[in-house]
Amino acid sequence: VHPGWPARVGPLRVRAGRVTLRPIRLRDAGVWSRLRIENREHLEPWEPTGQASWADRHHVTAWPGLCSSLRAEARRGRMLPMAIDVDGSFRGQITVGNIVRGALFSAWIGYWVDQAVSGQGVATAALALGLDHSFGPMGLHRVEATVRPENVASRAVLQHVGFREEGLLRRYLDVDGKWRDHVLVAMTVEEVPGSVSDRLVRAGRASWA
Ligand code: ACO
Repeated sequence: VHPGWPARVGPLRVRAGRVTLRPIRLRDAGVWSRLRIENREHLEPWEPTGQASWADRHHVTAWPGLCSSLRAEARRGRMLPMAIDVDGSFRGQITVGNIVRGALFSAWIGYWVDQAVSGQGVATAALALGLDHSFGPMGLHRVEATVRPENVASRAVLQHVGFREEGLLRRYLDVDGKWRDHVLVAMTVEEVPGSVSDRLVRAGRASWA
């Protein structure tokens, strides 16, 4: 058993509705597949290149294997694969990965949100909840994220929750068919007096739902 898994996190209220995080589950298959296929143009420029076609990788039958392997990693304490729900409906995912303990206590965080609810604070709220869960129940010391310099929406999200830029990683990740530069951002627990959610609420970007 690992601290912080499984768990429900939130809620925080934003313009789109009530944002909560919860473990991904097998019955997300239908909505996951539909949203991933509908959002292809929105997602593909920013996500790691896959082997099979977009349609095959996001077919409803791809979910059980993916979901089970992510949940197995969660049980081993190496990942935190969460669904982002808005008013109780699946709208995206937020994942904490490469959780390393020992002298690091560190991980990366990444996310995507359905374009139908974009620009309404969902990713910002989900990220704040994910960070508070990582620094709180999971006891991590450092969380990092990498983002393409061109991804203005995601960079805005990272900035809203207080990430600090650490540098530019050249040709870091195979995204959309090419090795792409990424900006590395990070936060350590010392930079979070109180909680990230609390800071978001005080900045007027969310409210306690
Ligand atoms: N130019 C400038 N700012 C922009 C633009 C733009 N073209 N588009 C959006 N923004 C701003 C918005 O105005 C908003 O800031 P504001 O609240 O100050 O107005 C901010 O970007 C978006 O904030 P949210 O509404 O909280 O984010 P949203 O729920 O729309 O989700 C996300 C953003 C996750 C980037 C979504 O668009 C998405 O899923 N994109 C595709 C996948 C992706 O890029 N994932 C992130 C990869 S990097 C990583 O995981 C660390």
